[in-house]
Amino acid sequence: MKKVLVATEKPFAPAAVEGLKKVLDKAGYELNLLEKYSSPDELKKAAAQAEAMIIRSDKATREVIEAAPNLKIIVRAGAGYDNIDLDACNDKGVVAMNTPGQNSNAVAELAFGMMVYLIRNGFNGTSGTELRGKNIGIHAYGNVGKFVAEIAKGFGMDVYAFDPFVKKEDIEKDGVKALDSVEELYKTCKFISLHIPSNEKTKKSINYELLNLMPKGGVLVNTARKEVIDEDGLLKLMEAREDFCYVSDVAPDCRETIESKFEGRYVFTAKKMGAQTSEANINAGIAAANQIVDFFEKGDKTFQVNK
Ligand code: 3PG
Repeated sequence: MKKVLVATEKPFAPAAVEGLKKVLDKAGYELNLLEKYSSPDELKKAAAQAEAMIIRSDKATREVIEAAPNLKIIVRAGAGYDNIDLDACNDKGVVAMNTPGQNSNAVAELAFGMMVYLIRNGFNGTSGTELRGKNIGIHAYGNVGKFVAEIAKGFGMDVYAFDPFVKKEDIEKDGVKALDSVEELYKTCKFISLHIPSNEKTKKSINYELLNLMPKGGVLVNTARKEVIDEDGLLKLMEAREDFCYVSDVAPDCRETIESKFEGRYVFTAKKMGAQTSEANINAGIAAANQIVDFFEKGDKTFQVNK
């Protein structure tokens, strides 16, 4: 009986656990659940017997992977896999996968929730502003970016995007204006919604110079990763421009400074919660379980990310 560890420091909704358990039960696999654990050691211990693992933002470090001698596959139930040590997976012959698109709508909806909360002054009773008629720039037009575009159109916004990896015609068929450079995107849009992954090329790439191109009243909305922001540059810009606001799912490391100096110009969630909906958990959790079964039963590696 294959042993599948579901290790989620931030647990899935119960319905998602139920759903993925059904998939594993049907395949005759055993589910081991480790939720809300508090140390990497707990994760290492639980991984010792696992042949497959499902994680969220849980850190699958080299230590964790090496502590799991039977591990064949690890699936990140979600999009970003910057939390998995892919070199360690390669060294140990472990297949790493993500579940692209499964939680994208939840992330996109949160981006708008945070934008509205900011421009309505935290619902504090004072007069705010609206999204209709404003420009929004989608930085990276992947699964989340597409949902952001769809919702932005519903709000009556003018939608722009920049993504060097997506053909302009594929962006424009969605009624979105594709721009030629990242600078053009930041110059054009009052709201920027960030969807770039965090990797060696993108870390700290959102810097002072780029952000300073944004028009008056610029709002940066980050539902991606805090690592892509150059926080020194962000702080410098927030000092220099009283009009600029920062909205982020996952607070930056400089949270305390921003909170103490720039009241009313930021929104931070308590914990990364873009994908924290029952629907997203069900989609991503069940997809992860199905991918594991398909991998063992049919050798299917469709969503492998460590090729
Ligand atoms: C993702 O990369 O899919 C999102 O950031 C969601 O992360 P989470 O599963 O930790 O909520």
